[in-house]
Amino acid sequence: MSKILVLYHSNSGNTQKMAELVAEGARQLEGTEVRLKDVSNADHNDLVWCDGIACGSPTNYGSVSWQMKQWWDQQPIENWGKLDGKIGCVFTSAGAWGGGQEWTCMTLLSILINYGFLVFGVTDYTGVRTEARKLVGGLG
Ligand SMILES: Cc1cc2nc3c(=O)[nH]c(=O)nc-3n(C[C@H](O)[C@H](O)[C@H](O)COP(=O)(O)O)c2cc1C
Repeated sequence: MSKILVLYHSNSGNTQKMAELVAEGARQLEGTEVRLKDVSNADHNDLVWCDGIACGSPTNYGSVSWQMKQWWDQQPIENWGKLDGKIGCVFTSAGAWGGGQEWTCMTLLSILINYGFLVFGVTDYTGVRTEARKLVGGLG
């Protein structure tokens, strides 16, 4: 059984929709238990509980929303160094192309890394592969 925490903050609902889709995807994996939580109703027990986290914030001024940053800033120091080795990934919603979403994601990743989460890369773009892409890349 894998326990996945989908932790998000959303001002106007877009990141929330993304979080719901991430949770929906995670639930499709057999043997996975998912908690979908806004920062207003999540606490350090959720971090202790999970094996992995997907953390999402809107891009605000090219960075993480203050509500998400505050949530991490207020985590009890007693947890520090005790939760290392869990898996982490991040997502963001932004209004513009080149609106700073990569910075937001890097900032979220930096928070997770500081907290002891392991983050990872993949060797190709993720997402649904189109028929055209299959033809060009032959990647299936
Ligand atoms: C205070 C504030 C700052 C924002 N800063 C950016 C920004 O730097 N870059 C960008 O592309 N969009 C920016 N936006 C737009 C939001 O990122 C975008 O609307 C996002 O989808 C909102 O997500 P949410 O509905 O989860 O709050 C900003 C919005 C607000 C309210």
